[in-house]
Amino acid sequence: MKSSELKQKYLDFFKNKGHTIIPSASLIPVNDPSVLFNTAGMQPLVPFLIGQKHPQGKRLVNVQKCLRTVDFDNIGDDTHHTFFQMLGNWSLGDYFKKESIAWSFEFLTAQKWLSLPIDKLAFTVYQGDKVVPKDEESAEIWKSLGVFKDRIAYLGKDNFWSAGEKGPCGPSTEIFYWKSKSKTPKVFDASDNNWVEIWNNVFMTYNRKEDGTLEPLKQKNVDTGMGYERTLAALTGEQSAYETDLFLPLIKKIEELSKKTYASEKKNMRIIADHLRAAVFLIGDQNGIVPSNVDQGYVLRRLIRKAIRLGKLIGIGGCFTVQIAEIVVKEYKDSYPELHQNYSKILFELEKEEHKFNSTLEQGLKEFDKIAVQSKMISGKEAFLLFQSYGFPLEMTQELAVEKNIKVDAVGFKKEFEHHQELSRVGAEQKFKGGLSDASAETTKLHTATHILNEALRKVLKEDIKQRGSNITSERLRFDFNFDRKLTEDEIQKIEAEVNKVIKEKLEVVREEMPVEKAFQSGAHGEFGTKYPPKVSVYTVGKNYSKEICMGPHVKNTSELGRLKIIKEKSSATGIRRIKAVLEK
Ligand code: ALA
Repeated sequence: MKSSELKQKYLDFFKNKGHTIIPSASLIPVNDPSVLFNTAGMQPLVPFLIGQKHPQGKRLVNVQKCLRTVDFDNIGDDTHHTFFQMLGNWSLGDYFKKESIAWSFEFLTAQKWLSLPIDKLAFTVYQGDKVVPKDEESAEIWKSLGVFKDRIAYLGKDNFWSAGEKGPCGPSTEIFYWKSKSKTPKVFDASDNNWVEIWNNVFMTYNRKEDGTLEPLKQKNVDTGMGYERTLAALTGEQSAYETDLFLPLIKKIEELSKKTYASEKKNMRIIADHLRAAVFLIGDQNGIVPSNVDQGYVLRRLIRKAIRLGKLIGIGGCFTVQIAEIVVKEYKDSYPELHQNYSKILFELEKEEHKFNSTLEQGLKEFDKIAVQSKMISGKEAFLLFQSYGFPLEMTQELAVEKNIKVDAVGFKKEFEHHQELSRVGAEQKFKGGLSDASAETTKLHTATHILNEALRKVLKEDIKQRGSNITSERLRFDFNFDRKLTEDEIQKIEAEVNKVIKEKLEVVREEMPVEKAFQSGAHGEFGTKYPPKVSVYTVGKNYSKEICMGPHVKNTSELGRLKIIKEKSSATGIRRIKAVLEK
């Protein structure tokens, strides 16, 4: 089976079951400071899992671009990928276990759909704990569909799913596929790697609070995620997705460039293909990023630099990342037109990064060898030197050290790093751990303040101000807009005064749903360059003070906001200004 066929079948199946197809959200979460990347299809849907109405209805389906950094060390094996696509279907307070399980079963086994033999499948359900009961209901549903009891296992934490430490979560039932050519064992064994998890159906019925305790959610949701790459490997009978059409064209190019075979350099070639595919999606995303030493940019830099180092290791000469990127774009642009739109940016950024790293890589490797022969431990200072002068991310030094069987003082490196006040890696790491779309009171307030600010800029500066970007953390808002000069002190004061006037007026904030054309006809503003679905939600502040197409969430009344203070105004790009502002009590 081809990858495009699997995707189409999945969307068609759930469309037939009353689901609306929604587009993949950006890989880089908007207005969510708690995570660096979208790690699951549910992440952009958090407000709707906790009760907000989704404009597209209660049954949704999509293919979501995801990126996980927790699996870095497993890349190159059969089942992990840095960037991957998740096939997901959701019930937002609509159907529950019975339908969800029956539909998963039908999609996997029916001849018209994937036609996988039941004999190659196994299922796990939640064993229960002090608060959450044992999920006998799910087990019974599987049995009623013809599954043998030996192929159903009750497990602990693996069957309780959440994206992070707080937010919506719940017990899950997971579906496993026997990937080996050998006979399928009668009894499921979770520790046997031949059983590959392909689908996870989470029954999101709880919210984990700040203090770690669970409270029931207002509605019972279903959140499922099926691994596109893994399922395709199962359907094609290949060992891994690297041997399917998702990766083969990339692997072929790497073979050609290195003049080596995949059979002889399997792991390195897989990592190069995985990392460069991820890099292309990160740069070419609708909220695309570029390599840097902080947060998402740092992850991107690590991916590209590791691919370059391994490329050299297997004998690829000169710059090559662009040649791989060209193939990624060619293969994926039909599903992800943003890659085509950002084509020149992708090539430009990769080439720039490769030139930069190539100029220090060789010297750096020599320096590394010199340090490595002298001791059994690379000090924080030495690791920092490799980072600062030769552009070796700490993780690269650690990988090289493992090959030589020596250690790296990572704590010392971090101290050195903070000392140089460059990158708050600690902060970045916190974010790697994952979290949830931040719908906290603080970000919600700043979100509404952003709408008022947007309108205030039009009132004070000029009518045709348009939003060109927005980013909100729990501390501050950041807003980019088209304007071609620095704002004066007087203008800044006027803008603040205008926003604070609106806050004092205690205006109501109202949410409505409508077709996208009607939203624009009614004068609602949208974000430049965004493609909206047919039905959208529109937030209006006051009678008609500000009207914007937006997913929310927002406060109910402007009186909740406190006082806006602009703390910075600067240029962000040619013709674009950037304001940072906070809300004071
Ligand atoms: N959100 C669930 C997962 O990522 C489906 O496994």
